[in-house]
Amino acid sequence: MEFKTREEFEKHIKKTVITADEIKLRIAEAGRYIDSIYSGRPLLLVSILKGAFVFLADIARAVTVPCEVCFMEAKSYYESTESSGDVKITMDLDRDIKDCDVVIVEDIIDTGRTLADVVRILRSRGPHSLRVVTLLDKPERRVAEMKADMALFTIPDLFVIGYGLDYGEYFRNLPYIAEYSE
Ligand code: IMP
Ligand code: MG
Repeated sequence: MEFKTREEFEKHIKKTVITADEIKLRIAEAGRYIDSIYSGRPLLLVSILKGAFVFLADIARAVTVPCEVCFMEAKSYYESTESSGDVKITMDLDRDIKDCDVVIVEDIIDTGRTLADVVRILRSRGPHSLRVVTLLDKPERRVAEMKADMALFTIPDLFVIGYGLDYGEYFRNLPYIAEYSE
């Protein structure tokens, strides 16, 4: 994408779907939910890049149990609003997760293909437990069977940007979630 002016960039931001304050409130609830499950046991937060990096930063500061953070990169969208259905692990974790309590921190479950693949791969490595916390859930578009242990927000079938989510690699830095406009 290329923007010659700030106006050109901003005209793609159609309307706010979830405000920064609404996100903040739900993050605090998600922190308490995670704390209550692991009750002090050390935890491994696995973030799926790039979309989940902002969410991970907030979740990590909302939990009070000891935790490590790890990253992996999985791609399915390739600069468009349609899922290619071809999920690739382009960067793997830098550690073994055998016997660990793992929480996958994801930005959005759309068709569910990305997460279904990631969960299958991580399960095969023998973690002690594996849960999924997603910022957004778009259940209307589900193709693969995939249900998060916690979804902070359920949204209709809109293409959204901001708070880590991109269109063509832009808009990740918006502090709120907005609907993208072509
Ligand atoms: P899925 O495999 O179809 O569930 O797609 C998951 C990935 O597609 C997410 O991790 C996002 O990176 C991307 N994605 C799906 N819906 C949206 C959206 O509305 N905005 C931005 N990215 C999205
Ligand atoms: Mg993602």
